[in-house]
Amino acid sequence: MSDEGPELEAQLTEQDYFRPPTDFVGQANVTDPDIYERFDENYPEAFEEYAELLDWDERWDQVLDDSNPPFYEWFVGGELNASYNCIDRHLDERKNQAAFIWEGTDADERETITYQDLYNRVNEMAAVLRGVGVEEDDVVTCHLPMLPALPVTMLSCARIGAPHSEVFAGFSAQALADRIDDADSDVVVTVDGYYRRGEFLNHKEKCDEALEQAESDVDTVLLWSRHDELHEDVEISDDDPYVLVDDLLHEHERERVEPVSRDAEDPLFLMYTSGTTGQPKGCQHRTGGYLSYVTATSKYVLDIKPEDTYWCAADIGWITGHSYIVYGPLSLGTTSVMYEDTPDHPHKGRIWEMAERYDVDIFHTSPTAVRMFMKWGEEYVEDYDFDFRHMTTVGEPIQPEAWLWYYKYIGDEDAVIVDTWWQTETGGHLITNLPALADMKPGSAGKPCPGVQPAIYGDDGEPLEAASGKAGNLVIEKPWPGMLQTVYGNDERFIDEYWRDFSDTDSDDAEDWVYKAGDGAVHGQDGYFRILGRLDDVMNVAGHRLGTMELESAVSEVQDVAEAAVAAREDAEKGEVPDVYVVLREGIEASDEVRDRIITSVEDEIGKFARPANIIFCDDLPKTRSGKIMRRLLENISNDEDLGDTTTLRDPSVAEQIREQVHGD
Ligand code: WTA
Repeated sequence: MSDEGPELEAQLTEQDYFRPPTDFVGQANVTDPDIYERFDENYPEAFEEYAELLDWDERWDQVLDDSNPPFYEWFVGGELNASYNCIDRHLDERKNQAAFIWEGTDADERETITYQDLYNRVNEMAAVLRGVGVEEDDVVTCHLPMLPALPVTMLSCARIGAPHSEVFAGFSAQALADRIDDADSDVVVTVDGYYRRGEFLNHKEKCDEALEQAESDVDTVLLWSRHDELHEDVEISDDDPYVLVDDLLHEHERERVEPVSRDAEDPLFLMYTSGTTGQPKGCQHRTGGYLSYVTATSKYVLDIKPEDTYWCAADIGWITGHSYIVYGPLSLGTTSVMYEDTPDHPHKGRIWEMAERYDVDIFHTSPTAVRMFMKWGEEYVEDYDFDFRHMTTVGEPIQPEAWLWYYKYIGDEDAVIVDTWWQTETGGHLITNLPALADMKPGSAGKPCPGVQPAIYGDDGEPLEAASGKAGNLVIEKPWPGMLQTVYGNDERFIDEYWRDFSDTDSDDAEDWVYKAGDGAVHGQDGYFRILGRLDDVMNVAGHRLGTMELESAVSEVQDVAEAAVAAREDAEKGEVPDVYVVLREGIEASDEVRDRIITSVEDEIGKFARPANIIFCDDLPKTRSGKIMRRLLENISNDEDLGDTTTLRDPSVAEQIREQVHGD
């Protein structure tokens, strides 16, 4: 939590409730309200229902071993393979049904990948990985964009029991290098390039730089080609560790690789995410609990059925894509749409044009995207003939106005909407309504998922009364199968980040261990949770998590910068954007040139998506008497709010000066 303590203003305006449409309820995967009671009364055994949605090589002997909190074990003794569950087990019934329909930057570039195709490709790629020496438990770092190569590579890793660590393609070379080092990967998988707004991006260059910056020695880089052959702008020199995937696939043509039986607790993947320190954390997810949890929530929350066409318009490079494009939907045997480029390419109706073309039934996106569609206007939607049964939002709070627009113009007032609250760490949804069982309330995530026990705690570490309507710290009191196992290679950090604040860390009784989400929330009298946003030094820019410390350290890399602090400014479109307050070294003048260097440094250290919205040069930063920067005040300034109490500052005039500089008198 930030030094200043949480700044909570729960300005609750009561919203109307919306009934799920009768047609929806009539066909929903879960309509029995007893599910909640069943999970409460029979915790944790009820989670067996989730595990039973999968095919196991060996059944578990114990659902939850909580004898060593917070290192919980799920489905102990069970064995399974995730790629088998996502592919092989569907072949009898639907081998020639599409698993993915992929569309490239040009609408006429399409690929339909059936379950049989996926089976063939994943077997061959698994043989390629083995061929370059990848063994069970080796972490393979991937840096792939929205191309079929990405799910194919992930599932191939899963097939041979090598955890993958996919780094979102928009991350910079330095960010990739940091993640390669942290995971100590010998093998990296990337692609020559991909398209952004119709322009080819040379993606291999980033990997070249990352290899220079990384400390680990990468033995092999497997290079996919975006087209049939390497793009003409992309070159490989003799001393590069690159090998062309296409050549190796050719060598391993028609090979079959038996899926490796993995212990339920063996890691399936790592996903790095921003926390309260500069160094991103490798959230480690287990095979059995994770796959059970995302399969069940895909079925019950997203209402996915095998015959559906489902489209989650997120990027697989983030957790949403891992859980709800790859693992959950494939495990249920459905058809997913995948798209390479941006929603405005080549026109602002692209998404709806595709929704019509594939007759999408279930649509999944972020509030940032909804706000953007809303800004573009409903005229881009109205031309197209599509009919969603179910829609999801994920990743940020959605304002009731945006929710209502989504409901009316995208859902045509007859689709159900779920607002799903969860995190990279939680693996899958924790707070959201089961769509046929609760009314929708714009701006509110809703009820906890079955068997999940959220609560609101005060800063004193004590629980607030249930349904108190008061804002506080969102915590989860009992373990669930989708939760992260640990922070890769750093159990201590796992405890510090997620457990220490609200747990008795000396206890070995699981009841004394409480998971801190880092979000503020309100539990309303109707039992619905409303999420208010992060309380720690993490911001949410267009649904992407960014640590203020990461940004500050990127800014401080610029030689002329003496000190920097980042504040989150509310933004009508992106939710939040970073404002950077900078003090330059003695004798250095503020200039566009310094400003550009700061921006470049953020882009180099993290990625273009983290670009500061404003850079404000100041003479000093507001500090407490003990010298800590008061980011809260900078946030007040960025958001044009009252400064409040400044008496604890070493020099109260500093904040006032900055305020005047930013807003005038
Ligand atoms: C925020 C994304 C409000 C929250 C799945 C959380 C949300 C962070 C919601 C995790 C929601 C996610 N309403 N806020 N429905 N869903 N958040 O790890 O602050 O990228 O802590 O996982 O996003 O972001 P992450």
